Amino acid sequence: MKCAKPLLAGYDLDAIREAGFTPEWVRSRTTRSLWRFAEVLPVADIGQAVSLGEGLTPLLRCQRRGEFAPFENLYIKDESFNPTGSFKARGMSAAISRAVQLGVRAVALPSAGNAAGAAASYAAQAGLECHLFMPVDTPPANILESVVAGANVYLVRGLISDCGKLVKKGCQEFGWFDLSTLKEPFRLEGKKTMGYELALDFADELNIRSGPLPLPDVIFYPTGGGTGLIGMWKAFDEMERLGWIGSQRPRMVVVQAEQCAPIVTAFNKGSEFAEMFPNAATVASGLRVPAAVGDFLMLRVLRESGGTAITVSDADLMAGVRELSRLQGVYACPEGGAVWKAAQQLLQTGWLKPHERVVLFNTGTGHKYNHLIELPELPIVGDNWPEGASSS
Ligand SMILES: Cc1ncc(COP(=O)(O)O)c(C=O)c1O
Repeated sequence: MKCAKPLLAGYDLDAIREAGFTPEWVRSRTTRSLWRFAEVLPVADIGQAVSLGEGLTPLLRCQRRGEFAPFENLYIKDESFNPTGSFKARGMSAAISRAVQLGVRAVALPSAGNAAGAAASYAAQAGLECHLFMPVDTPPANILESVVAGANVYLVRGLISDCGKLVKKGCQEFGWFDLSTLKEPFRLEGKKTMGYELALDFADELNIRSGPLPLPDVIFYPTGGGTGLIGMWKAFDEMERLGWIGSQRPRMVVVQAEQCAPIVTAFNKGSEFAEMFPNAATVASGLRVPAAVGDFLMLRVLRESGGTAITVSDADLMAGVRELSRLQGVYACPEGGAVWKAAQQLLQTGWLKPHERVVLFNTGTGHKYNHLIELPELPIVGDNWPEGASSS
């Protein structure tokens, strides 16, 4: 039956649990990628995975200095360590692996940028044809990496939603496999591994070696299509059924840009679905998603988790990028800057308590957004330096 809503993958978790899929088993594996969670991923064995070494990103504890000083337990899950520099690698590794299993020859997707770069690279690794539709004002680095990886890139004067319509046409016309967010179930499967990893990361951080794995109190997620948010929530359910964690869940926080905030608007109105956000605009290209097919799933997660949804202005999120770099040494993407500023806002309102264990998702590297940062005038020096140099 056709309902045009997302399809999620299911596993026989009782059988997987009985077969001995435990945190210890995962830790004992030599696989250095998210495929160490193979039993809950959509290929029959690790050998079939299309992998570039995605996942296993660091959980960094924030230094308590400057604006970060009030936070006692603030962490950054730094997804910029992924191949192609963003968390999109996780989803693409799973989806392209599954596509190969299904005998697909060509894939297509609309993208705000990072998903395109990841799709191009994983399709190249798998030897698949790849068709990417991106807004003309997508960050140049994303367009470039996609072209270099041999994808067919089409630029569209419009938003990602306009790109999505063309992908649909292309899939109908040419039989491409549609990799659009939540139009197939497997990208979410890759992204859910962020939830599994957080539990193992915190067990290491807190030196917990037996009993239920610990989770953070609050997770801040920069939200466009919401796959990672929905995926992590699914991971927590799976982990509970596998006996890895108890029934407690983190409060999930959706962070969006002021000028593109469909989920924040719907959350504040108490709606079940979100409306198309008019005139969507933000420099955080990953957040420029005016309508998401998984809107109702995200809103459900927010309400079930006791979470919230909040916006950050473009000026603020770029200030966040500078603060993360200057005070923590993390050159974050604008989306990462946004979650940091959102956490600061929620601490100020009292929604977040200073002692709480908080995770900020830095979903990508700042290096893909160099075009947003103006270089100040710098001194040019020669061999005679420091003669004539002022000490200021
Ligand atoms: C760097 C970055 N952060 C966040 C997002 C939003 O991710 P999601 O679609 O899972 O909400 C994107 C999507 O393009 C992105 O590129």
